[in-house]
Amino acid sequence: MEIPDDLIDALTCANFVAALTGAGVSAESGIKTFRDPDGLWAKFNPMELASIDGFLSNPQRVWDWYQYRREVINNAKPNPGHYALAEMEKLFPQFTLITQNVDRLHQKAGSKKVIELHGNIIENHCFQCKRPFEGETALPDGEIPKCPSCGGLIRPSVVWFGELLPFDALTEAEQSATECNVFFSIGTSAEVYPAANLPLIAKRSGALVVEVNPNYTALTPYVDFKISETSAVALPAIVEEVKRKKGLL
Ligand code: OAD
Repeated sequence: MEIPDDLIDALTCANFVAALTGAGVSAESGIKTFRDPDGLWAKFNPMELASIDGFLSNPQRVWDWYQYRREVINNAKPNPGHYALAEMEKLFPQFTLITQNVDRLHQKAGSKKVIELHGNIIENHCFQCKRPFEGETALPDGEIPKCPSCGGLIRPSVVWFGELLPFDALTEAEQSATECNVFFSIGTSAEVYPAANLPLIAKRSGALVVEVNPNYTALTPYVDFKISETSAVALPAIVEEVKRKKGLL
């Protein structure tokens, strides 16, 4: 794998680096992506499993699917791509990590500050009154827990299709895209908005845009550097090169 010298030079001088991650970053931890040929949306219908209408028409089906995904995620470990992103937090004067992932593997790898655009699959809240729910979720017969305050159904704290992204998270992500010198788009198909807009905001604002993805995406024609490699291979190599150039190795 070739990492362009110009990219390493730009990163070595950069004051502010931002990175947007997607499901591809967790692929090497054994968590399936959504839109790859063997991805979740090839097998399951996102409108049935990840939308308000889907939840209302069959809450048990949605709950069971999330309980299954939680089991997979709870057993997964961060991979070298997650660890490299945690190192980047210390490597650049300013660094923002923005993720579409709900698996919390960035935090498990040691990233201190993570902007979660699509919520997370670990926490739950009441569908009706929105209060956070901290009670037991593994009920006998896979029953859906109910809100102790209003009796509403409990749901995972992920963002579903048709829902707005958390306002503060999106605002901070857009601000980082506007202000950074280098913007990484890593392991995302760049097809889901508004996240997919962030690299374009960065580009319009004068940042160098780098894509780390073994495949071609909707963003590829607009990037300054394309690293056609998996994130677990490319990101540690990039960190090592920048450290060498900064005299830290
Ligand atoms: P996608 O499944 O759409 O895209 C995953 C991307 O990762 C693809 O472009 C792959 O080529 C790439 N990829 C696969 N393996 C990789 C690896 N080892 N290293 C680097 N890249 C790899 O996933 P997202 O773009 O994250 O939304 O999808 C965005 C949103 O759509 C998700 O957050 C989810 C989904 O519906 C919600 O749940 C709200």
